[in-house]
Amino acid sequence: MDYNIGVIAGDGIGPEITDAAWTVLGKVAEKYGHSFSRTDILMGGCSIDATGEPLTDEAIESAKAQDAVLMGSIGGNTSTSPWYRLPPEKRPEAGLLKLRKSLGLFANLRPAYLYPQLKEACPLKEATADKGFDMIIVRELTGGLYFGERHTESYNGVIQATDTLTYNENEIRRIAIKAFEIARKRRKKVTSVDKANVLDSSRLWRKVTEEVWADYPDVELSHMLVDNCAMQLVRDPAQFDVVLTENMFGDILSDEAAMITGSLGMLSSASLNETKFGLYEPSGGSAPDIAGQDIANPIATILSAAMLLRYSLDLDTEADAVENAVRQVLDDGIRTRDILPREGAESITTVGCKQMGEEVAKRI
Ligand code: IPM
Ligand code: MG
Repeated sequence: MDYNIGVIAGDGIGPEITDAAWTVLGKVAEKYGHSFSRTDILMGGCSIDATGEPLTDEAIESAKAQDAVLMGSIGGNTSTSPWYRLPPEKRPEAGLLKLRKSLGLFANLRPAYLYPQLKEACPLKEATADKGFDMIIVRELTGGLYFGERHTESYNGVIQATDTLTYNENEIRRIAIKAFEIARKRRKKVTSVDKANVLDSSRLWRKVTEEVWADYPDVELSHMLVDNCAMQLVRDPAQFDVVLTENMFGDILSDEAAMITGSLGMLSSASLNETKFGLYEPSGGSAPDIAGQDIANPIATILSAAMLLRYSLDLDTEADAVENAVRQVLDDGIRTRDILPREGAESITTVGCKQMGEEVAKRI
C-alpha cells in the first residue's frame, strides 16, 4: 500500500532522529512492499526562521492531508535562543500547541517500559529495576492549563500573571474512555492521577472518571494524587499499568517515567484524535546542546514510528517488526551514549544516531 507521511523534523536533534526513524521506515517499506511518501512540514524554530511563524496555516493543511505525521522535536535553549525573545504566541512551542489543537489531538499515549537490557541504565535502586515496569501514560493533550485563558497585567505597579485550568466533563470523558479501552488490552488497571484534595477541576476529573468506569467493570480503577504519583514512580513503578491524567500533570510525569527507563531518548508517544490520524513524536526535547553531533538517541523516534504503523496505518506486523528490531539491537549490545551501562561496559558497542537507525533497520 501507499501511505502519505508528513515529517516535522523541527529543531535541535529533530532532523537527526527523524532521519534515523525514516531509515527504519524505508526498510519496513522495502520488506513488506509498501511505499511511504514523505512530505516535510515546517514547525518550530526552523519555521520561525523561514516564515516568521512557528506554524503556518499551510503547514497545518499539509499535516491534515497526511495519513500520519512523524515529528522530531522543536524549540531551542530558552535562555540563549533569539526565538525566546519573541512574544509567547510566536515561539516554537506555540506551533506544537496550535497543531495539537487544530488537529484535535486530545489523547497522548506515552508508553514507559524498562527494557531488561537497560536495567543497568535505570537510575532506580537495583531491586526496583530488577522488577521492571511496563506502563502507559494517557495524557489529556488539548485542555487544562495549556489552553486556558492567560494574561499578564500590572495592578498598582505590581505585575501579575494568570493561567487558568479548565476542564469540561466531555473532555474528561473522552480521554477516560481512551484509558479504559487501552487498559482492556493490557493488564486492566487504570490509575487516574489528579489533585482532588485541592483543585475543582480534579474533583470533576474523579467524578467523570468514575462514571466512565461503570462501563468497564472488568477494569480496576484507583485514584492517586499527583504528588504521591511522582513519588510512587521512583519507589515502585511496577504497580502502574495505565496512568490516566490531565495535560500538565502528564507532561511532568511522562518526563519522570521516561527517565526511569534509562533515558529520555527511549520514550515514544502518539497523539491521537477521533480519527485514525496521529502525530507521533519522542517525548524528549530538542536537546540543542547535543544537536548536530550525531550522538542523540533515535530509539524513541523509531518506537514512535512503530506506533504510527500500528495506530494510524493498522500495520501491526510491521510495528511488531520495528519493536523487535529495537529489542534485538539492545540484545546485541548496541547503545547510544545516553543508555550505556553505568559500569562494566563489556561487549557494548557505542554508536551514533545515524548508525543506530541503520542497526535497527538491518534487523527488520
Ligand atoms: C511535551 C513537551 C511539550 C509539552 C512542549 C514542547 C510544549 O514538553 O510534548 O511533553 O509541554 O507538551
Ligand atoms: Mg514534556
